Amino acid sequence: MKNIGIFWGSETGNTRAAAEMIGQSLGVPSSNIRNIASATLDDLAAFDVLIIGTSTWGAGELQGDWDSFFPKLNGADFSGKSVAFFGLGDQVIYADYFQDAMGILYDEFAARGAAVVGAWPDEGYEYTYSRAVRDGVFVGLALDADNQDDLTASRISTWVAQLQGAF
Ligand SMILES: Cc1cc2nc3c(=O)[nH]c(=O)nc-3n(C[C@H](O)[C@H](O)[C@H](O)COP(=O)(O)O)c2cc1C
Repeated sequence: MKNIGIFWGSETGNTRAAAEMIGQSLGVPSSNIRNIASATLDDLAAFDVLIIGTSTWGAGELQGDWDSFFPKLNGADFSGKSVAFFGLGDQVIYADYFQDAMGILYDEFAARGAAVVGAWPDEGYEYTYSRAVRDGVFVGLALDADNQDDLTASRISTWVAQLQGAF
């Protein structure tokens, strides 16, 4: 199994909790499940596989710590790395911006050479627009702890099984 690092940014703990569930399912040591608030670009560079988690805030904006980290991605090179994304959002109140932050990070990592894995179907969600949807699928796992928390565990286990195949 390749060296996997999970980097999350979270305001109220939902993305963090999802990161821990994903990490446990994949057998990632807890020391490799990191808060982006205290991470450096070198920390990300240390892993062959990155799993990147963000919630969306404002009106379609990055979670605050990812927003602070974002300029550091300028000039980064993710060639040779597999990168998967997961996001937390609210499809009811923020139907016009559902999961946009996942799409913002996807664009940035993909532009810098990452091989993106872990696309996820958009069936079972009701939203108007998402920057995280490309060609009819989410670029990563979309979770909604506000409205569909009962689906979180099963979505994670299905996605993790899919990722294990991709790695
Ligand atoms: C002020 C505010 C703005 C939000 N904006 C969005 C948004 O634009 N798009 C979205 O999908 N979710 C949005 N959300 C929902 C959060 O992303 C969601 O509650 C998420 O689970 C929070 O995860 P966290 O605790 O890891 O930060 C917003 C929530 C709040 C309170």
